[in-house]
Amino acid sequence: MQATAKANTNIALIKYWGKRDDTLFLPMNSSLSITLDGFYTITTVEFCKELAKDAFFLNNRPASEREFNKVSQFLNHIRNLAGIHLPAVVTSENKVPTAAGFASSASGFAALAAAAAKAANLELSKKELSILARQGSGSACRSIYGGYVEWQKGIESDGSDSFANQLLPEEDWNISILSVLVASEEKKVSSREGMKRTVDTSPFYDGWLHTVQKDFETAKEAIKSKDFEKLGKVVEANSLKMHATMLGAEPPILYWQSGTMEIMHHIQKLRLSGILAYFTIDAGANVKVLCLPSDEQSVYESLLTLPAVQSVITCHPGSGVTYLS
Ligand code: DP6
Repeated sequence: MQATAKANTNIALIKYWGKRDDTLFLPMNSSLSITLDGFYTITTVEFCKELAKDAFFLNNRPASEREFNKVSQFLNHIRNLAGIHLPAVVTSENKVPTAAGFASSASGFAALAAAAAKAANLELSKKELSILARQGSGSACRSIYGGYVEWQKGIESDGSDSFANQLLPEEDWNISILSVLVASEEKKVSSREGMKRTVDTSPFYDGWLHTVQKDFETAKEAIKSKDFEKLGKVVEANSLKMHATMLGAEPPILYWQSGTMEIMHHIQKLRLSGILAYFTIDAGANVKVLCLPSDEQSVYESLLTLPAVQSVITCHPGSGVTYLS
């Protein structure tokens, strides 16, 4: 009872920010992402009766207690579904460079869901896998699919209609995503905590809820018609809006560093010079820049001239979950 799966991470274009159910990971709003090539997690799961309890190794080391507990709890979903009571050993390799500023929970839980389900002999559809991965980390439900992916928030209280779908395969529209590192210290407030505090305390959260569905529809239309300018505009605005909700939280959450601001201004200046580049920022200080492949090299070089930039890693749309033998 062993299986190995690989999942790529994803970057949200329209952000998932806020839960309506913390236990089932049900979001307040629908979101949209690109699954990326290059940054991934490979996970092997083996259920075996010789073990006394679960074990979790991350990048060749025993995982921390916090990480172990999350994984072990997630395995309980699989055991319940499969009707098995066996402990499992989980071995994960994260190729999400810490330097890249990408969260690894999306690729991590997508790979874990796929590998564990297969190891437990569960025959799950992609939709079922997405629902499962969602219960490890919300954004993981989108990494089951490649390319451009939507996560419909759903309305059911059991989460049965809250899963991801592919909008456009990765090979259908190539764009460039540059991950720009400005700060490597660990952030003080996790996404999970940040979104909860925002929902609970920010007076601006209502404004988010009133407009995010429109942003989502606009981004979907832009992807359908491959209109890069339309997509970039709504992506940048949506990211700033998400950060605005956090600034109103109590206590306020400010993920940006001075370098973050420097890049934002730089990208807006690039646009004035005629280059279509747009930024998006998750719950952290690092910035992701979207541009057309024809501008990739010049945007890359211009970013490297900024004093605050430590490194830039270029990605493109990548595939969904795959199984390795
Ligand atoms: C800002 O998926 O990491 O990156 O569901 O609590 O595990 P949990 O949160 P997580 O949050 C992602 C937040 C975001 C936006 C996004 O990816 O949509």
